[in-house]
Amino acid sequence: MCGIVGYVGEQHPEKVLIDGLKKLEYRGYDSSGIALMGQKDVQIIKSVGRIINLEETLKKSKIIDSNMGIAHTRWATHGGVTEANAHPHKIGKVTLVHNGIIENANVLREELKKEKVKFNSETDTEVAVALINKYYDGNALYAIKKATSKLKGSYAFAIMFDGDDKLYAIRKDSPLIIGYGKGENFIASDIAAIINYTKDYSLLAEGEIAILDKEKIEVFSDGEIIKKKIIHSNITSLDADKCGYDHFMLKEIMEEPKVLDGLFKRYSDFSLLPDITKYKEIHIVACGSAMYAGIVGASLIEEKCNIKCYVECASEYRYKKVIYDRKTLVILISQSGETADTIAAMRKAKDEKIDTLAIVNVETSTIARECDKALFIGAGVEVAVATTKAYILQVAMLSLLVIRATNDKKAMEEAKKIPGEVNNILGEREIFEGVAKDIYKARDAFFIGRGIDYAMCMEGSLKLKEVSYIHSDAFQAGELKHGTISLIEKGVPVFAIITDERIKDKTESNVVEVESRDAFVYTITNDPEVPNHRFRYVVPKVSPYFQALLVVPVLQLIGYYTAKFKGLDIDKPRNLAKSVTVE
Ligand code: F6R
Repeated sequence: MCGIVGYVGEQHPEKVLIDGLKKLEYRGYDSSGIALMGQKDVQIIKSVGRIINLEETLKKSKIIDSNMGIAHTRWATHGGVTEANAHPHKIGKVTLVHNGIIENANVLREELKKEKVKFNSETDTEVAVALINKYYDGNALYAIKKATSKLKGSYAFAIMFDGDDKLYAIRKDSPLIIGYGKGENFIASDIAAIINYTKDYSLLAEGEIAILDKEKIEVFSDGEIIKKKIIHSNITSLDADKCGYDHFMLKEIMEEPKVLDGLFKRYSDFSLLPDITKYKEIHIVACGSAMYAGIVGASLIEEKCNIKCYVECASEYRYKKVIYDRKTLVILISQSGETADTIAAMRKAKDEKIDTLAIVNVETSTIARECDKALFIGAGVEVAVATTKAYILQVAMLSLLVIRATNDKKAMEEAKKIPGEVNNILGEREIFEGVAKDIYKARDAFFIGRGIDYAMCMEGSLKLKEVSYIHSDAFQAGELKHGTISLIEKGVPVFAIITDERIKDKTESNVVEVESRDAFVYTITNDPEVPNHRFRYVVPKVSPYFQALLVVPVLQLIGYYTAKFKGLDIDKPRNLAKSVTVE
């Protein structure tokens, strides 16, 4: 969600900045812009839509001589998707890009208007620019500090001042890093943006101000220069390449066997996993797919460990009254580790002195750093906005926690063969392409299942709707008769997930009900005895710890191919952002 890149050095800044913005495209955006600091002037170029539009505009423009610039991809929050609202914004001597939301922007705007400040956009960001400009009398550090002390909400800013050859950066509740090059330095939302130029970076902490010129970076905390820890990234730019696949989504699904194998090997050492049996109650808190992974995990925790386990979406959990028992564990699940609501939920639990455990992919993220304990899933970079391999690893990590709790050595043996089984299923992807061909013109689709199968349905349904834009819903199979069945008509695709043998007959009877109303039924099961309707795919029967790991890749591929048949922008579905850093 919004991407920031800043550059100071000898190269053409516009080249480095555009390159960086492209690497941040996966975060989701709807307009972009760039500002270059010249000898006399700041040149600002903005464009609505994809970065290619910005590139086209740049090509047509006479670019000024410059050694420094800032750039931005905007995901609209305050104000529509227009050039005027796109960043960078400039007022007076200050040019700035922003990620986050200034919550008291309206109040501040009214105050500033009384002081005759003229605004050119509908954004909250412009208020921050005006405020910094108001306090700027040649001392950038003072102006930034003074202005940010008046802001409520979240922000990551990259800032330039007219006539100053330095870049400035500050953040609160929104990620920002500084990158160290040779004769050049960088600001970025994440390391992927600048990985072609440097692998060395530091995380900017809340309230710190970084000042960059091409030779050095100084970071101030409470007015003092501090020494920052330098992190060496091990991502390669290849991680962010499609490696011959048409889309990142497919590439990332195809990586599932490899990353699963890595996870099982790493955590075969149980001592790396916390013992969840010492808790009386577990809350799993997350958003979207991460929450759906949590629902699979909760079903396993309750079944196998007899521990009460609730799953709640973070945006609700953060504001509701939560009744904690002293022996509660809160598990936060997040690929990015930067999801604003999940961060807030984690802080709520911490404020109550409740133990927090993160299942997270990005090791340097806020959640990874602030949680009492973090388990890293090791998915590598996930570029497609729709999560696939990270979801699979989140489920696998929860399974491992349960296996450790039950000390189930047999399950650990079984884990070894799971990556191979996933690989075999992915090898049959043409079959799922066939399903996609059958359904891609549908207006609606439904996913039905019971228990843990319903948890898989939720993820399958989300995957389909978010990439193919087909309206889709998941239902507990038994609930259909209580309303939804009125939507069933001839040819509506209904996906039935049937893996839990205790309730397979029950779900099958719901299947018959929708089929009697002419729905097209696509069944994914682990039981060859389950009847075939329009389509049936049988995955190997494995223990419940691992069954979702074999079923959900099938659903991911159906979602992927359906979007492909529709010719959609699969890796960047409309309106979505990879990392939801605002509420
Ligand atoms: C859907 C998807 C989202 C994320 C959700 C949480 O494909 O990717 O639903 O799962 O936005 O994101 P993280 O895991 O980064 O907290």
